[in-house]
Amino acid sequence: MEFFGHVIDGQEVESLDRARMPVVDPYLREPWAQAAVGGPADADRAVAAARAAFDSGPWPRLGFAERQRLLHALADLLERHADDLGMADTRDMGKPADDARGHDVPRSAWNFRFFADDARLAAADALPSDTGHHIYTRYEPAGVVAAIAPWNFPLMLETWKVAPALAWGNTVILKPAEQTPSSATLLGRLALEAGLPPGVLNVLHGYGPDSAGQALTDHPGVDRITFTGESGTGRVIARAAAANLTPVSLELGGKGANLVFADADLDNAVHWSIRSIFSNAGQVCLAGSRLYIQQPAYEEFLARFVAAADALRLGDPRLSGTQLGPLASAEHHAKVTGYLDTVEADGGKIVTGGPGEGWFVRPTVIAGAPPQARVCREEIFGPVVVVQPFGSEDEAVALANGTPFGLNAMVFTENLSRAHRVSAALRAGTVWVNCFFVRDLRAPFGGVGDSGVGREGGRFSREFFTEPKAVVMQISPG
Ligand code: NAI
Ligand code: MG
Repeated sequence: MEFFGHVIDGQEVESLDRARMPVVDPYLREPWAQAAVGGPADADRAVAAARAAFDSGPWPRLGFAERQRLLHALADLLERHADDLGMADTRDMGKPADDARGHDVPRSAWNFRFFADDARLAAADALPSDTGHHIYTRYEPAGVVAAIAPWNFPLMLETWKVAPALAWGNTVILKPAEQTPSSATLLGRLALEAGLPPGVLNVLHGYGPDSAGQALTDHPGVDRITFTGESGTGRVIARAAAANLTPVSLELGGKGANLVFADADLDNAVHWSIRSIFSNAGQVCLAGSRLYIQQPAYEEFLARFVAAADALRLGDPRLSGTQLGPLASAEHHAKVTGYLDTVEADGGKIVTGGPGEGWFVRPTVIAGAPPQARVCREEIFGPVVVVQPFGSEDEAVALANGTPFGLNAMVFTENLSRAHRVSAALRAGTVWVNCFFVRDLRAPFGGVGDSGVGREGGRFSREFFTEPKAVVMQISPG
């Protein structure tokens, strides 16, 4: 059985106590590989390697152009190994191979290309001064970055953190989710093949509490923590970071509202509404999991949406053409079906869908659930959407803003001024108008409220992964 080790200081290694965990294929519901499980002693090794590579290794001193060259070389290798990388995520968490190979891997390569170029081309402020001083800003690398990732877009979200951290001259310890270790080890191997020096990108496997994750967030040798995962975990990590005054960036859960106005292009709205809740089997922080439809379009839109949901192809995620795989794990399947069990008692009705075979959940549409129902308030993280009609624009905005989350929202309308007005009123880090999931890596990405702290992307990543320094120089005799 294949084994995925830690990558520490340029070597792929077992844990010091040789502990391993099974890596389960959720379609076959059996282990397909094993991965190392790191504890505090392994975290110490990884931090020491990253620390040495930062404090006395070449990486922070190479210069932007050379780092850019090496990160593009790594992107080339990701593209060349797209089949293996994509299949690793598919085996680990059931994502359709078409999506892993066709979307996540190219986007992962793009993460490296974009941030390598962004850092190389960035300009810094020089402040005009009439006091006889020249004042300018330097962006110094922050040091050792711990990047802690979830299982839903393993390689894509890992590289979204690793790429800007490396481009700005930091060294990294990547802690992938315990459900999805494989592609991270492959990434670590490819980084060495690309020529990144030992200790620059380390990969540490293991669980969260009392394991590799906690050991990293508690570690005084870590200078930045960037985390993507559940809001509850984010609270725990923020407390750990506070003990060492370590800056932390938190990209957390969501309960995205999708507002379809009666004047919308309904074909376009159905297309994106389906994508927004059923792609990746709904295991998407940005999912449009609350669908609000303006009367009088409600009946027609719902009928078309349900027909499109019923037409999605479930199956073996390894096969081309599959649109929905199983949920990522037995535990997650139990969580999602647990929510389905609450629907009737809370006053709602399942219009279509429900549990499927094995760890599948069919595309599920819930109507009639009141706003205080659990399925309307909590992140389900599965192919489950609640639908509700609305009347006025104000009512739509109030519904959309009515949860503690604020990651993203969608607006479908052909009315230009309404599009701007509603976008301004929504409490969200991202608003998509007449589209979904379009990402420009220069734009700020993050959430409001329980959806996160801070923003990443473009210059926002620069702010987080560097220590900006002001240099004030006297240029005329004082
Ligand atoms: P999770 O919070 O259970 O785990 C995420 C990572 O944190 C894993 O690597 C885990 O091992 C680690 N971890 C857990 N407890 C820890 C602790 N005490 N100390 C240090 N590390 C710890 O999240 P999960 O279930 O893997 O991912 C799903 C969640 O991620 C959903 O809530 C989803 O909305 C959110 N997410 C947010 C995104 C965003 O950009 N805002 C994007 C994708 C997912
Ligand atoms: Mg979890």
